[in-house]
Amino acid sequence: WRTILEDYLKKKKYKKDLCAEPLNPDEDDEDTEPRVVHPKTDEQRCRLQEACRDILLFKTLDQEQFSQVLDAMFESIVKPQEHVIDQGHDGDNFYVIERGVYDIVVSGKCVGQYNNKGSFGELALMYNTPRAATIVATQDGALWGLDRATFRRLIVKNNAKKRRMYECFIESVPLLKSLEATERMKLVDVLGAKQFTDAERIITQGDKADCFYIVESGEVKIMMKSKTKADHADNAEVEITRCTRGQYFGELALVTNKPRAASAYAVGDVKCLVIDIQAFERLLGSCKEIMKRNIAHYEEQLVALFGSSMDLRD
Ligand code: CMP
Ligand code: CMP
Repeated sequence: WRTILEDYLKKKKYKKDLCAEPLNPDEDDEDTEPRVVHPKTDEQRCRLQEACRDILLFKTLDQEQFSQVLDAMFESIVKPQEHVIDQGHDGDNFYVIERGVYDIVVSGKCVGQYNNKGSFGELALMYNTPRAATIVATQDGALWGLDRATFRRLIVKNNAKKRRMYECFIESVPLLKSLEATERMKLVDVLGAKQFTDAERIITQGDKADCFYIVESGEVKIMMKSKTKADHADNAEVEITRCTRGQYFGELALVTNKPRAASAYAVGDVKCLVIDIQAFERLLGSCKEIMKRNIAHYEEQLVALFGSSMDLRD
């Protein structure tokens, strides 16, 4: 009996492990598990919705899935120096920031910071790996947590759809050619899709940068105000270039750690894939050289248009 029982449990565990693989989410039987619901006041729900508005991982969910995510989220208050996540631990929750500043520490070294927006803690839940970084609150803050089971049932399942949708396109993007296939898939797992209508501003010159864009469809116009005329009334924006399917923009500020060098506007309907700065740093390190080489080309464009290159580099 014991061996039969052990055998049965082993098989069951084996099946569970298989189900936990991100690549087999369709075989997931977690749908039978009870739904997690944390009741919220109207005021809490409003704050939650605001905090989740720009979360890239939620951008490709349908309305029903998104609403289940919001139902399952719970509020968590954090104190200065509190470790929200410790590198090497198992993953319990995914977190969306409502407020607060959080250091990202990898092997004792601070590699970045979340400043009052964004989300973290998705990697351990997506890939069943130990936490890849420590996240430390540097001041009083507030987070919204999403439990592992709900994250896997909704977000990881949706990622299989995302991979099917974007795999071919991502493979065709020239910038990403040097990445390994698995790295490209990891990029697909964390990217978000955003739509813009004609004349909508996607990037504002001078703003602080927190993400990077790849054009999936439509056309994006890059416009710049001359810095030398910054205080003049006639400092109109000048068109510099246009980006179409497969091209990227918004990388410069991330590479140089400077404010956005130009503005970007949709020409007609536009769809972009968006990658946040943390994923950009983590996954696109090997593409940075290609991006840096392109700065010389930008400078030539600016010299031709304005007579100077306006110190694009740091
Ligand atoms: P996870 O590994 O679950 O827990 C730590 C989180 O830190 C990780 O998910 C990411 O969401 C986030 N993070 C941000 N920057 C990095 C980085 N450079 N390396 C690893 N994790 C990072
Ligand atoms: P970033 O500075 O982050 O935001 C504006 C983007 O416009 C910039 O990144 C580039 O991707 C893009 N761009 C295209 N041509 C130029 C150019 N000649 N100079 C600066 N930015 C340019």
